[in-house]
Amino acid sequence: MRINVPQGAEQEMALASSAPISAGRTNVGRANARDTSAQVALDSYSERFRKSVDRLMASPVFYRFSVNNIFTRWFAKYRTQQVFDLMTGFVNFQVLLTCVRYGILERLYENPCNYEELIQHIQLPKDNLDRLILSALSLGLIESRSRNRFGIGPLGLPVISYPGISAMVEHNAVLYADMLDTAKLLQSGKASQMNEYWPYAKYAMDGDINSGAVVDAQNAVESEKEKQFAKYSDLMSNSQNFVIDEITSVYDFSKHTKMLDIGCGKGRFVSTVAQMYPELEFAAMDLPEVIALTRQNLLDQPFYKRINLVAGSFKLDPLPSTVDLVTLVRVAHDHSDEVVQMLLKKIHHALPPKGTLLLAEPMASAKGAKHDPYFHFYLLAMGEGRLRTPEQLTQMMLEAGFIQIEVLSNPMSMHSKVLIAKKY
Ligand SMILES: C[S@@+](CC[C@H](N)C(=O)[O-])C[C@H]1O[C@@H](n2cnc3c(N)ncnc32)[C@H](O)[C@@H]1O
Repeated sequence: MRINVPQGAEQEMALASSAPISAGRTNVGRANARDTSAQVALDSYSERFRKSVDRLMASPVFYRFSVNNIFTRWFAKYRTQQVFDLMTGFVNFQVLLTCVRYGILERLYENPCNYEELIQHIQLPKDNLDRLILSALSLGLIESRSRNRFGIGPLGLPVISYPGISAMVEHNAVLYADMLDTAKLLQSGKASQMNEYWPYAKYAMDGDINSGAVVDAQNAVESEKEKQFAKYSDLMSNSQNFVIDEITSVYDFSKHTKMLDIGCGKGRFVSTVAQMYPELEFAAMDLPEVIALTRQNLLDQPFYKRINLVAGSFKLDPLPSTVDLVTLVRVAHDHSDEVVQMLLKKIHHALPPKGTLLLAEPMASAKGAKHDPYFHFYLLAMGEGRLRTPEQLTQMMLEAGFIQIEVLSNPMSMHSKVLIAKKY
C-alpha cells in the first residue's frame, strides 16, 4: 500500500468532508437520503437472512446433519476444532511453560531418552507426570522416537533455538497473572504485574518519567528500578532479532547518512544495521537507565565510535537533529494516541526535507488476525499502549505532516509490519 498526499491536500479533504451542504446542493442531499434509506432496507433484509442462517447452523439437528453428511463434515470438524482451540489456549500455554521451567525441551534436544530417564530429570511428583508428557507430545513440543524414546518436537525446537521465545514464555506468565480478571482490567485499565514489569508505562500513568528527576544511572545500579529496566531491556534485546530480520530484509539503509533509533533499548537494531552498513552514522536514544545498559553493551564494538548515545525522554527532551532517517521499532504501540501523535510531530520537525521515518512493530489487521487479541490485551495490561492498524498509523503520520507513506511488504508480518513515511 502506498499513499501519496500532496502537501495541503489532506487538509482540503478534511475540510471538504466537513463542509455544510449549500442550498444549491439540495438535490444531492435528497439523492443521498434515498441512497441511505435503500441501504437501511438492504441491511435489515440481510440481517434477517443472516439470523435465519445462524439459527439453522446453531440447531442440534443441523449439527447432527452436517456431521453425518460427508459433504459438510469437514466444515463441522473445522468449526469444532476452532472452538476447541479457543477453549484450550491457556492450558496449552501452561504445558509449554512447565516444559520450559523444568528444562524438558533442553534435555530432549541434547539427547532423546525414554520415559523412565525423562521422569528422573523432572523434579515433580511422579504420579501425574505422564499427563505433562502426553500433553507435550500432543502439542508437538516433544515427539516419539524409535525404541520408546522421546525427542524434541517440531514446536519445541524453535522454543529452545531462540532464547527470545523462552524469555517470552516466562514473560507471558507475568502477563497471564493479570489476565485472570480481564473484566476488572478493562474497567480499571490497570494491571498490577505488567505495570511493575514496565517501569516507563508505570511512571507514565503515575505522572511521567522526568529525565531530570531520573536518578543518576551510575549511582542507582543497585536499585530495584534499575534492575527492572535491565530485566525488560534484556527481554526486548532477546526478542528483537525476528523484528530486525523483517526490517533489514525489506529496507535499504544505504541511501541514508545518519540514523536515529528512538527507544533503542540495548542497541541491538543499531548494532545490526551498523555492521551491515559501514558508512552509516547513528544516534540512539532511550531513557537514561536504558542508555547506561546500551553503553555497556556496545562499548567494545568496533562500530561504537559511529554511535552517539542520547539519554533522555522523547516526551520531554529535544530529539537529536542532523539525521536523515528516524526509526521507531516496537515503540509506538507502547504509548497512547496523544503521545504517539506528539512524537510523530517531533520527528517530522527534527527531520530535514526528504527525511524518512521508519516505523516497525506488530500491527493489527483491519479484519482482525488471530494474534491481535494477545497484543490488544498485552498493551492494555501494560497501561498506555494500543495495537494499531497500518491505516491508523498512516493517518497519524499524515496528521504529523508526512506526505508519502508506504507499507513495505515483509515476509513475516506477524512479527512486525514496516511503514515508511517521507517528509516533503
Ligand atoms: C518495547 S521497547 C523496544 C526496544 C527496542 N526498540 C526493541 O524493539 O527491542 C520500548 C523502548 O522504548 C523506550 N522508551 C519508553 N519510553 C521512552 C521515552 N519516553 N523516551 C525514550 N525512550 C523510551 C523503553 O525504555 C524501551 O527501551
